[in-house]
Amino acid sequence: MRAPVQRWQTGHVTTALLLEDPDKCADEIFQSEGIEVRRVAGSLDEDELIEALKGVEILGIRSKTEVTERVIENSPSLQAIGAYCIGTNQIDLDAASRHGVAVFNAPYSNTRSVVELAIAEIIMMGRRLVERNNSLHQGVWNKSASHAHEIRGRTLGIIGYGSIGTQLSVLAEAVGLKVIFYDRAERLALGNARRMGSMEEVLQNADVVSMHVTGDPSNTGLIGDREFAMMKPRSLFINLSRGHVVDLDALRKHLLSGHIAGAAIDVFPEEPKSSGDPFESPLADLTNVILTPHIGGSTIEAQEDIARFVSGKLRSYSADGGTYMSVNLPAVSMPVSESATHRLALIHYNIPGVMAKLNKGFAKLGVNVVGQALGTVGEFGYALTDIAGELPESLLERFQELEPSIRLRYLDLGR
Ligand SMILES: NC(=O)c1ccc[n+]([C@@H]2O[C@H](COP(=O)([O-])OP(=O)(O)OC[C@H]3O[C@@H](n4cnc5c(N)ncnc54)[C@H](O)[C@@H]3O)[C@@H](O)[C@H]2O)c1
Repeated sequence: MRAPVQRWQTGHVTTALLLEDPDKCADEIFQSEGIEVRRVAGSLDEDELIEALKGVEILGIRSKTEVTERVIENSPSLQAIGAYCIGTNQIDLDAASRHGVAVFNAPYSNTRSVVELAIAEIIMMGRRLVERNNSLHQGVWNKSASHAHEIRGRTLGIIGYGSIGTQLSVLAEAVGLKVIFYDRAERLALGNARRMGSMEEVLQNADVVSMHVTGDPSNTGLIGDREFAMMKPRSLFINLSRGHVVDLDALRKHLLSGHIAGAAIDVFPEEPKSSGDPFESPLADLTNVILTPHIGGSTIEAQEDIARFVSGKLRSYSADGGTYMSVNLPAVSMPVSESATHRLALIHYNIPGVMAKLNKGFAKLGVNVVGQALGTVGEFGYALTDIAGELPESLLERFQELEPSIRLRYLDLGR
């Protein structure tokens, strides 16, 4: 459903509201642009959020704040939302686009943290460190090489060769593992990694299988009894992707039989909401299993990187309208033209003739266009136009009336 056309507004940003405590380096980035930062420690419910967003142009959240259509509809000053995390399920992205609100996230900031955990777990399981550590804490000296392996020369099978899978591939080879992988999309094999024709081929040939697929519903139960049975005897299994991808009861069965020698699981089909909440798992009583509370990406470095990355994107959107890597708007960025005095940023519906109408309007009013860029994705389009000289108010009003426009921001370049 189409939202009513918004009034045009200055793109100048004065206030950012940050919820859920993103890293403090976010504040410095906003303040360097003269943007006032307000912080609320936790998340807010719908009504509280609508109230808090009055007069606010930028909202920063993490995973707990729900940004619904009602919130977006009732926050006319809101221009952009920063998700200081990877996922954006908590934001109604379609509503954001229809109301001309740009959304940014940090899709790569914790990639390295996940990869380092995977490497650590491969070594820990290969040397059975959890069991050795536990028995020594219980006062039992158990010095034995039984079932303890170096990782050098062993084969790591990566399923899902995206941001995390590829980086794991590079680091794994650096510590002497051979890498095979399967991805349902065409992916370039890095280093000496070898692409397999199917997931089954990876399962049958790897000493360690590590899951890095997306969490979309089609991957529910991707690894179950049949897949564990296909794996090499005494192989190791890691899931750092999403909980519903793996059938944990089936994994338990294969761990108890010894067919799977060890597993490391960071993500679960049902995860407690807060730290300190109780947790249950069919793997909880097994000694050869490393269980971690979804901390694959949780490091100080990743948090800093997320804050820097997302705040940088929001700052750039407010300063020059750049949408590179926006989650919901077409990626458009353009260096500010040398003689430009103003930049117009028009979010519109992707309908034939919008640019013609836009440029006809410029021509009619004798406006000097010195730079222009357009991008479209699906239903939406985004155009940046640099103009030199005065910005006639009648021009802004004319574009406001342009039928498919959603939001027009104008940026005074201070020249
Ligand atoms: N444990 C954590 O804390 C943590 C942190 C970050 C990301 N993650 C999760 O890790 C996973 C990977 O993240 P990413 O950033 O590398 O994602 P990505 O989108 O860059 O890569 C995922 C890859 O999996 C492939 N894929 C999807 N389904 C597949 C299937 N059935 N078979 C083969 N390949 C398949 C895709 O084609 C893609 O190349 C995601 O599920 C993400 O949510 C977990």
